[in-house]
Amino acid sequence: MAILLEMTRAHVPVLAGELIELTDPTPGENVVDCTFGAGGHARLMAERIGPAGTLVCVDRDPAAEARYEELAAEVACKTRFLRMDYADALDLLGAEGFRADLVYMDLGVSSMQVDTRERGFSYSYDAPLDMRMDPDQELDARAVVNGYDERQLARIFRRYGEDPSANAIAREIGLRRRRRPIETTGELVDAIEAAIPAAVRRRFGGGHPAKRVFQALRIAVNDELGSLDRALPSAWALLRTDGRLAAISFHSLEDRRVKRFLAARARGCICPPDLPVCACGHEPEAELLTRRAVAPSPGEVADNPRSRSGRLRVARRVEGEGA
Ligand SMILES: C[S@@+](CC[C@H](N)C(=O)[O-])C[C@H]1O[C@@H](n2cnc3c(N)ncnc32)[C@H](O)[C@@H]1O
Repeated sequence: MAILLEMTRAHVPVLAGELIELTDPTPGENVVDCTFGAGGHARLMAERIGPAGTLVCVDRDPAAEARYEELAAEVACKTRFLRMDYADALDLLGAEGFRADLVYMDLGVSSMQVDTRERGFSYSYDAPLDMRMDPDQELDARAVVNGYDERQLARIFRRYGEDPSANAIAREIGLRRRRRPIETTGELVDAIEAAIPAAVRRRFGGGHPAKRVFQALRIAVNDELGSLDRALPSAWALLRTDGRLAAISFHSLEDRRVKRFLAARARGCICPPDLPVCACGHEPEAELLTRRAVAPSPGEVADNPRSRSGRLRVARRVEGEGA
């Protein structure tokens, strides 16, 4: 496996201009950043909401908390940090009676996480199999790779990585770990490369052969889709009338969830389609501020290739039940 030199690239916030323009934070507003990371988006929000505003920052990674301390010392607004899963943080804020004008999430991993070799997120570095965003969490990638049966592994690789070689890779992992446990990202990459014949790799393209499996494992280890499913209704419940919910997704599994959630809130009549007249009287709770997901401009992608798959959706909460 090729080991690249470790790079300590700063995380560049994705779709930042579009996020600010569409959510339009104003002085004095209450904002929740569910995925603080390096605080790039949070800093822009803080500038907009000013000294009368409140910015709640959430991340389950202690490395993000260190970045938060720097930001809190520099910005004028009131700030608070919650180191926990954003789904739990939103529930906690709700229980405290906090009402938000803007809640946003920038999903996935930060460059700080991917580029810190020993955290095991990247197939480019040889490191222990870890991939936990929250290092206090028990489940890590080593436990998944060595502990889940081959059918479970294949399902994870297929569902979360859309890997056409999911079965073959799971079989190869099964064979290898019967000899000894797979301990490192390098050993996992070797197993993946051995499982996918070169001709198949050429046919499917899509970059490094381990890319899909690493994405799938990361999603499984951190239960990323479970958190998103729990968080969307909690975020919505926190919003005041005119409050905005925004999400930047990095793959279709996330974007589909955000799209469906917002579309369901923007729907008026929910009567069965064969009913000639509306009997439900259901009113929309949301106005979609993005009809289609917003993608980064070619300029942004050229400057920051990691932004390539980012997709932003935003909705505004309109007068209605609970708002
Ligand atoms: C793409 S980065 C965010 C970057 C940030 N917007 C910035 O401008 O620097 C995603 C961050 O969300 C955090 N994260 C992902 N899922 C989370 C969850 N369920 N709960 C809390 N934090 C989460 C990760 O630890 C990571 O720091």
